[in-house]
Amino acid sequence: MLTEAVAAKPAAATAPLLKVRGLEAWYGESHVLHGIDFDVAPGEVVTLLGRNGAGKTTTLKSIIGIMAKRKGSVVMAGTETINLPSRAIARLGIGYVPEERGIYSSLNVEENLMLPPQVKPGGLSVEQIFTLFPNLKERIRSQGTKLSGGEQQMLAIGRILRTGANLLLFDEPTEGLAPVIIDQIGRTIAQLKQQGFTIVLVEQNFRFAATVADRHYVVEQGKVIDMIPNTELDRNIDKLHGYLGV
Ligand SMILES: Nc1ncnc2c1ncn2[C@@H]1O[C@H](COP(=O)(O)OP(=O)(O)OP(=O)(O)O)[C@@H](O)[C@H]1O
Ligand SMILES: [Mg+2]
Repeated sequence: MLTEAVAAKPAAATAPLLKVRGLEAWYGESHVLHGIDFDVAPGEVVTLLGRNGAGKTTTLKSIIGIMAKRKGSVVMAGTETINLPSRAIARLGIGYVPEERGIYSSLNVEENLMLPPQVKPGGLSVEQIFTLFPNLKERIRSQGTKLSGGEQQMLAIGRILRTGANLLLFDEPTEGLAPVIIDQIGRTIAQLKQQGFTIVLVEQNFRFAATVADRHYVVEQGKVIDMIPNTELDRNIDKLHGYLGV
């Protein structure tokens, strides 16, 4: 028979930083998430994989509370957030880098970096961000419009690291970038993981996802339909191709 202490141990050891259960969301009348379930352990990198329109971006938007209508449960570090406004959710330490990156073209690199408000103590300093992204330091006075796609992506990631968020939601950070830049983003994600950040990564490029993630959740028609540990990716590759239609 298990004693209570023994039974409680594994659960405590794996208590998720983010726990999503039965998450539903709507755009107006259009019901697009139909009960998303997944967990992310502290320090883990997980991906949300799935075809176009599966609901990956909407899942991230629902987690940070910018969908007008959502229901279900999203627990961040033990706090239920489903009825909280997005500012309060951010203050729990969730940072979001949208697919469109949101770099202000009229502001320079430094001004863009300083823009998002701090949500928690413990964010990286500008110097630490420049250590992670030396190219940004060289371009500190360059305007947003003058940056390459890769530089904009790095700025969008760097900017969120200043805020003190410890759970980072990245929506397709490699989209449209050259292979050499994709490698650099991959190394950055590995460094962030090493520094203790927890990351949810939406990706279409699962070859890239395989190089950075611990586990992969497959999203289809507004639900999570499977979870594949990265160590088991190879023997599930045909199944995954089927899911993604590639
Ligand atoms: N602003 C919107 N208004 C209405 N419907 C939307 C809106 N944004 C997305 N949708 C719909 O919601 C569903 C989920 O879209 P979502 O953007 O979450 O998918 P995704 O998995 O991120 O896809 P992609 O890989 O193309 O980025 C799709 O059917 C999409 O057409
Ligand atoms: Mg998307």
